[in-house]
Amino acid sequence: MLEASDLQAGYGYLQVIWDVSLNISEGEFVVLIGPNGAGKSTILRTIAGIVKPTAGEVRFMGKPIEGLLPDLINRMGISFITEDLNLFTGMSVRENLLLGAYNVRDNNQIRDSLDYVFNLFPALKERQKQLAGTLSGGERKMLALGRGLMGNPRMLLVDEPSLGLAPRLVLSVFNALQELNQRGITILLVEQNVSASLHITNRGYVLEHGRIVLEGKSANLLENEYVKDVYLGLRGVAA
Ligand SMILES: Nc1ncnc2c1ncn2[C@@H]1O[C@H](COP(=O)(O)OP(=O)(O)O)[C@@H](O)[C@H]1O
Ligand SMILES: [Mg+2]
Repeated sequence: MLEASDLQAGYGYLQVIWDVSLNISEGEFVVLIGPNGAGKSTILRTIAGIVKPTAGEVRFMGKPIEGLLPDLINRMGISFITEDLNLFTGMSVRENLLLGAYNVRDNNQIRDSLDYVFNLFPALKERQKQLAGTLSGGERKMLALGRGLMGNPRMLLVDEPSLGLAPRLVLSVFNALQELNQRGITILLVEQNVSASLHITNRGYVLEHGRIVLEGKSANLLENEYVKDVYLGLRGVAA
C-alpha cells in the first residue's frame, strides 16, 4: 500500500534521511523506532508531503506521491497525526473534528465520520461542546486521532502518541490504535515506547542516524539481542 524507496530527505543542506526504504501492506500495523533525532518524524513528514525528498520515491496505492502537496496526499487517504497535535484550543471538540473533514463535501459522510469517531471515543461525544484547550492530555490525543479520522483515511501516520501521557492513558491510546487497525486502517506508528509498541504491531523498523538498521516482525524484534540490549533496557537483567 505504501512503498518508499531510497528516500533521501532533510532540511536545507542538512540531510537527515539516508536511503530509507519502507514497504507497508494494506492492513498492516507497523512501528518505526529509534533514538531521538534519528529522523523518525522526518520520515513521516516526507511521506505526508511536508518535507520534500531530495531523492527517492514514495508510492501510495501504486501512485507516486513524493513531492505532492500535503493536502493532496491527505485527500488520497493518508492522515498524519503530528506530535504537537495541532489542535485549535479556542475551538470546541466538535469544531476541531469538523476541521478534519475539510476535504469532504458530502454532509452524510461527515455525519457518518462523526458517529464513527464518537463511537470509538465516547469521551469526545460527551465533551463535544467543550473547548479543545480544556481537555486533558489523553483526551487531546483522542481528539487529534479523531480529527485525523474525519477524512475517512485508509492509512494513519501517527507520531509519538504516547508522549507525555501517564501509563494508563498510553494504554488507552494504544488500544484505540489497535482497534482502528482491526477496523481495517493501515498504520505507521512512530514510538519511543519500544516494548509496548512492539507488542501491538505486526512489524517494525529500527532507524538510527537516518538509516534503517533493522527490520522484521515485531515478535522477532522483541527477541532480537540488539533490540533488547539497546531499546528494551534488558542488559544484565536477562542473565
Ligand atoms: N524543521 C527542522 N529544521 C531543521 N532541522 C530539523 C527540523 N526538524 C528536525 N530537524 C533535525 O533533523 C534531525 C531528525 O529530526 P527528527 O526527524 O525530528 O527526529 P526524531 O523524530 O527521530 O526524533 C534532527 O537532527 C533534528 O534536529
Ligand atoms: Mg520525532
